[in-house]
Amino acid sequence: MSKVTAVAPSNIAFVKYWGARDLERTLPWNPSISMTLSACVSRCTAETVDTDRDEILWDAGGGRLVDPDAGFAARVQAQIDRIRAALDRPARVRVATGNTFPSAAGIASSASGGTALALALAGTFGVEPDAAALSRLARLGGSGSAARAAQGGYVEWPAGNGPDDGLRQLAPASHWALCDVVAVVDAGPKAVSSLEGHRRAPGSPYFAQRQQELIGRLDEVRTAIRSRDLERLGRALETEAVDLHLIAMSSRPPVFYWKPATLAVLDAVRGLRRTGTVGWATMDAGPNVHVICPPEAEPAIAESLAAIPGVQQVLRDRVGDGPRTSGEHLF
Ligand code: DP6
Repeated sequence: MSKVTAVAPSNIAFVKYWGARDLERTLPWNPSISMTLSACVSRCTAETVDTDRDEILWDAGGGRLVDPDAGFAARVQAQIDRIRAALDRPARVRVATGNTFPSAAGIASSASGGTALALALAGTFGVEPDAAALSRLARLGGSGSAARAAQGGYVEWPAGNGPDDGLRQLAPASHWALCDVVAVVDAGPKAVSSLEGHRRAPGSPYFAQRQQELIGRLDEVRTAIRSRDLERLGRALETEAVDLHLIAMSSRPPVFYWKPATLAVLDAVRGLRRTGTVGWATMDAGPNVHVICPPEAEPAIAESLAAIPGVQQVLRDRVGDGPRTSGEHLF
């Protein structure tokens, strides 16, 4: 089959996936809602080859393709095998993949990387998955954020019972031009994987309470998106982010993701709001802080966050249109 290149963005969750009913099949306890990004993307080129093994390459930038480290190669190989089995295609492939965002930026690339790989492989096998099918392929590796990366704009992944738990676009990117300013306070790998966090979450004495709270919070976030009500969205997403970390910190054994600079950024975001520069903070399973804000507040927020001791880097992103294929191949 022909060579296919896919470009897929990462996303930031407003309502988080944290805790699974079935980790093997990546079935969450609760629905999650996210905003698809546009600058933090992964690119993947795939092509079938006439050999007896797959070839996996890493895009080191500047047109250089290199051998990836062993851990990354093993994860990609496992995911190629799962997708090949799911699509029932025996052919071997040559795959090259990389990210537009710095790989040591503490931004999870599982959503963007998993989706780019799934879309490129499906394409080279002659399959054109719709968003629901792409979501199912991308999440075969166990990543819930990858389950939401198949569509652009504002996306809900319901907590359905099985493979037909469809993906729902709440609104396209054009509906609301929100930005995401990311204060990177630690670029290293997280101390405890999300997978392990999901496993421990139900052990928190507050887990059941969170499930109750989420019923109203999910509605708040859906309504806020529909009506473009930033204050309503912001209040819900800050509470939600703290709740995720509260569950993590009260799991058995506990998981602490925050660093001192995380608190400094949260404090700065509240301070900026008091002076009329409005942004709202959220954190995934790590210490970095994402500040959701309107375009007019973005430059001032980025500048303020960059000046905080302990902030290593500030990334500027915004809502985007979701995965696509591209004619710009990596090989
Ligand atoms: C806290 O199992 O999707 O980001 O594959 O590393 O993104 P990754 O982990 P995953 O769990 C996501 C956890 C979260 C919240 C969220 O994105 O919903």
